[in-house]
Amino acid sequence: MFTVLTGAQFGDEGKGKIVDYLSESADIIVRFQGGDNAGHTVVIGGKTFKLHLIPSGVFYGKRLLIGPGVVMNPASLKDEINILKKSGINISPRILGIDPKTSIVMPYHIEMDELCEKNSIGGIGTTKRGIGFAYADKILRNEIKLIDITDKDRFFSIYEKIAPIKEGMVKVLGGDPTIVTDKNKISEYLNLGKFLKDFIVDVSYELNMGLRTGKKILAEGAQGTFLDVIHGTQRWVTSSNTIAGAVSSYLGIGPKKIDKIYGVVKAYLTRVGEGPFPTEVHDETGELFRRKGREYGTTTNRPRRCGWFDGLLFKKAIDLNGYTDIVLTKIDVLSCIDPLKICIGYELNNKVLDYPPEDSYELMRCKPIYEEMDGWDEEICSCTNFNDFPKQAKEYIKKIEEIGNIKINMISIGEKRDQIIFKEK
Ligand code: GDP
Ligand code: IMO
Ligand code: MG
Repeated sequence: MFTVLTGAQFGDEGKGKIVDYLSESADIIVRFQGGDNAGHTVVIGGKTFKLHLIPSGVFYGKRLLIGPGVVMNPASLKDEINILKKSGINISPRILGIDPKTSIVMPYHIEMDELCEKNSIGGIGTTKRGIGFAYADKILRNEIKLIDITDKDRFFSIYEKIAPIKEGMVKVLGGDPTIVTDKNKISEYLNLGKFLKDFIVDVSYELNMGLRTGKKILAEGAQGTFLDVIHGTQRWVTSSNTIAGAVSSYLGIGPKKIDKIYGVVKAYLTRVGEGPFPTEVHDETGELFRRKGREYGTTTNRPRRCGWFDGLLFKKAIDLNGYTDIVLTKIDVLSCIDPLKICIGYELNNKVLDYPPEDSYELMRCKPIYEEMDGWDEEICSCTNFNDFPKQAKEYIKKIEEIGNIKINMISIGEKRDQIIFKEK
């Protein structure tokens, strides 16, 4: 059984919480793209964990894998392992496996990302984790892979070829090129290679063998549909494919092996960084979403931009991912906001659209058309049954289902593990 879960919006939909929940009945949880730009929050017993590279299935002690399509900062991974250890969670090679081909985020990738953001030639409000530059090196075949930092001779034979190119690039961007040849940094990476060597496994092989022997696999998406490097709101996107189909190529799993595709969608909308966001609100309602939903970046702590639920983007997300199941999160945040609005159309060039335009610059010019809906005053975070929901909340959910022509079957009503209820499809 192979299940994929992706974010249906601009990231931070609450994927971490849902993956944690679904992990109880999974055998293997695997990350297939992105890197430590992701920040997935899991709250257990009053304790908040922020995961960046370790799959969110870690709290059930399940097998965890990091696939070759991930770009990994090994120092960040080691930090995460140490933080978890302090809470009594031991990540041994029995638990975690990492593919040897996983790309390594090098110090110069982070430096170049920061320089680009600073001098605005390429700045889009990235997380400054070097993600785009690490992926660029993969495409250019200039990457350092995990296996390379576990073998000193192999590392230097590759590094001496690429170092001059990287020095030139850092210089052009106005940085200090010695970051490329800094001996301390290089030896730190080789030490990290020694530490990570025992974790290396062939991820595609383990997953395909797992499927043959009846294991339940859950692939944890990072970022969200509209941050996809091809199908997202280009050029304000991340550098990997974030949609469900990407799981097949990033992990080496045949497309026909995918059984279930979960889309996680927030009851309103947020975005971190620049880029089109037709339903963004700048008034006190935006502030209310931010305050009540604690909408601050998990990785960068930046205030998230907030706005109303966008039904057109939802329709497109369903198409791009082929969702079989929808999980709605953070509906509890909407209590006491009245009236509520849902975007049901855009106006562009005096025409009414019912589907987002493919071009980001056009999307930026779209004016949302809203349907107003009654809000509710009751707190719903302690409901245990869908029937206990206020009538208006049920109506709000029904509207989302109608727009997407899809049923919502899981509803998250708080950050805690047990704050989740099911609704019949
Ligand atoms: P992810 O990147 O998709 O995993 O999402 P983040 O962890 O970056 O952001 C989601 C935030 O909302 C986290 O602080 C979660 O603890 C929190 N959260 C998740 N689901 C719910 C929910 O249903 N209600 C509320 N109020 N908070 C939630
Ligand atoms: P999770 O997995 C929200 C955004 C950045 C920026 C753009 C490119 O927690 O949902 P990058 O550093 O990837 O080159 O930045 O993508 N971004 C995210 N936004 N949630 C994330 O991850 C994100 N990861 C990247 O803010 O706009
Ligand atoms: Mg996040």
